[in-house]
Amino acid sequence: MGKIALACDHGGFLLKEEVRRWLDEKGIEYVDCGSYDTAAVDYPFQAKKGCDKVLSGECEKALLFCGTGVGISMAANKIKGIRAACCENCFSAKFTRAHNDANVLCLGGRVVGPGLACEMVDLFLNTPFEGGRHKRRVDEITELERS
Ligand code: RB5
Repeated sequence: MGKIALACDHGGFLLKEEVRRWLDEKGIEYVDCGSYDTAAVDYPFQAKKGCDKVLSGECEKALLFCGTGVGISMAANKIKGIRAACCENCFSAKFTRAHNDANVLCLGGRVVGPGLACEMVDLFLNTPFEGGRHKRRVDEITELERS
């Protein structure tokens, strides 16, 4: 597994820290793009920091955190080449990899607890893209970036 980028705003900071500790336990390498405390910081800038690591190839995937997971996913999905999924359950975290080839998982620090978050991260990082008919649909998403 390649390195994982982490980024959060103040609303996602505590959950990011929980997931960071889980990555440490699992021996999964990461780049922590901050933030590094609960001081207020705007999530669009944090989304860009994490996504840039994926687009540059330094990281394989990114995990982004804000209060809901929604705002930071909206920002991430404005960036070409990013397919970000805001998930609140294990089924979605697994199938956004299998069917959507998502490269970014967004989680809400005020929505999900650390146990569920780490389970979702585990599924997200370890589920391969199925390709086949799903590749055509992912390619159609990429086409939308050009329209
Ligand atoms: C920050 O208070 C909060 O709005 C942000 O973390 C996020 O939930 C936005 O979607």
